Amino acid sequence: MKTQVAIIGGGPSGLLLAQLLHRHNIESVVLERKTKDYVLSRIRAGVLEQGLVKLMEEAGCADRLHSEGYEHDGTLLSYGDEMFRIDFTEHTGTPVIVYGQTEVTRDLYAAREKAGGLIEFNVDDVVIHGADSDAPYVTYRVDGEDRRLDCDFIAGCDGFHGVSRQTIPLDVRREYEKVYPFGWLGILSETPPVNHELIYANSPRGFALCSMRNENLSRYYIQCSLSDKPEDWTDEAFWQELKRRIPADQAARLVTGPSIEKSIAPLRSFVTEPMRWGRLFLCGDAAHIVPPTGAKGLNTAASDVHYLYHGLTDYYARGSTEGIDRYSEKALARVWKAERFSWWFSSMMHRYPDQSEFDLKMQVADLEFLRSNKAAQKAMAENYVGLPY
Ligand code: APR
Ligand code: PHB
Repeated sequence: MKTQVAIIGGGPSGLLLAQLLHRHNIESVVLERKTKDYVLSRIRAGVLEQGLVKLMEEAGCADRLHSEGYEHDGTLLSYGDEMFRIDFTEHTGTPVIVYGQTEVTRDLYAAREKAGGLIEFNVDDVVIHGADSDAPYVTYRVDGEDRRLDCDFIAGCDGFHGVSRQTIPLDVRREYEKVYPFGWLGILSETPPVNHELIYANSPRGFALCSMRNENLSRYYIQCSLSDKPEDWTDEAFWQELKRRIPADQAARLVTGPSIEKSIAPLRSFVTEPMRWGRLFLCGDAAHIVPPTGAKGLNTAASDVHYLYHGLTDYYARGSTEGIDRYSEKALARVWKAERFSWWFSSMMHRYPDQSEFDLKMQVADLEFLRSNKAAQKAMAENYVGLPY
């Protein structure tokens, strides 16, 4: 087969790129290792920056997020029984949209299918060839049959565990990583959210987050030890622990119920440089991971897609290579800012096993400064709603 852009990975990055390129009559083929249902079964965060919302509009896939998503003009932070609000409208004039990443991915699949976009599922043994040549191609197997896809460019949208990043030679690649000494135990429950806005809680027993998907579908997280297993936590134990970590008045109004999903996610900050090697371009989790605290994972993947799709459309429309030549530099500039915000927010809101009394005082001072200083709140709001592309 021959196409213009071979996209490895059928997650939100790969699908958004394929749909945006399609809107500019640029052909692509998406190669996905799993099935569509498997990809849609993964529960992920759900706070969308305006930048991603605009890209979904450009891709012609924003109707449902506008009709079913929730505009949030602010968020709540608590430590102990203290709780204060970061007002996005006051500081940025821009809301975020609370809408599950799974729904974003579902909308993109629907758009690709409607457009007749080619997605190969259940692909195995994907190998990238000649990325540093003018004639790259990808080989893979489907149902035991060998396949070859010739292309002009390859977009590595295959996540942290994909092949694309590994294709960039070690002497070219530079990796930066921070692993946090705790995880997030998350549940989904068919209960009304405790608050119409998200609550990020720093408590002596650790972090907690109260989020939602809709009026009767809530998402809650508590910081847990990395040795924990989801089955170690009964629903009752989870609810009791959550109540201990959020302000008493919020705990009193918390509606509990059976969990319909329960999982533990590790926290990691990770970046690889460069995000381009020859005709191979990395997007999203294939190049960088953020701890979920700031909900920057999907949104930073979207800004990568923004820079790449503009670079590719300029190349095919005007033969200009400026956009693709500057892709890595532009994408990384925004990636590092999202990494810094996610690291800072995680450091301020979680309790560390080796935390000293002084470290704790620094956390409280950071929270106190944020609670009482408009400039600090503005900086937090600007980062949370999304820095410009
Ligand atoms: N061949 C083909 N597909 C692959 C391969 C491979 N070798 N390896 C992985 N994949 C697929 C995975 O099955 C997955 O569907 O690539 C896709 C990568 O999707 P994501 O991991 O969701 O990454 P991305 O699209 O960049 O989305 C980033 O996802 O993890 C969240 O927090 C993260 O929100 C961020 C978003
Ligand atoms: C979520 O709704 O799953 C969510 C929201 C905000 C975060 C992380 C996760 O920072």
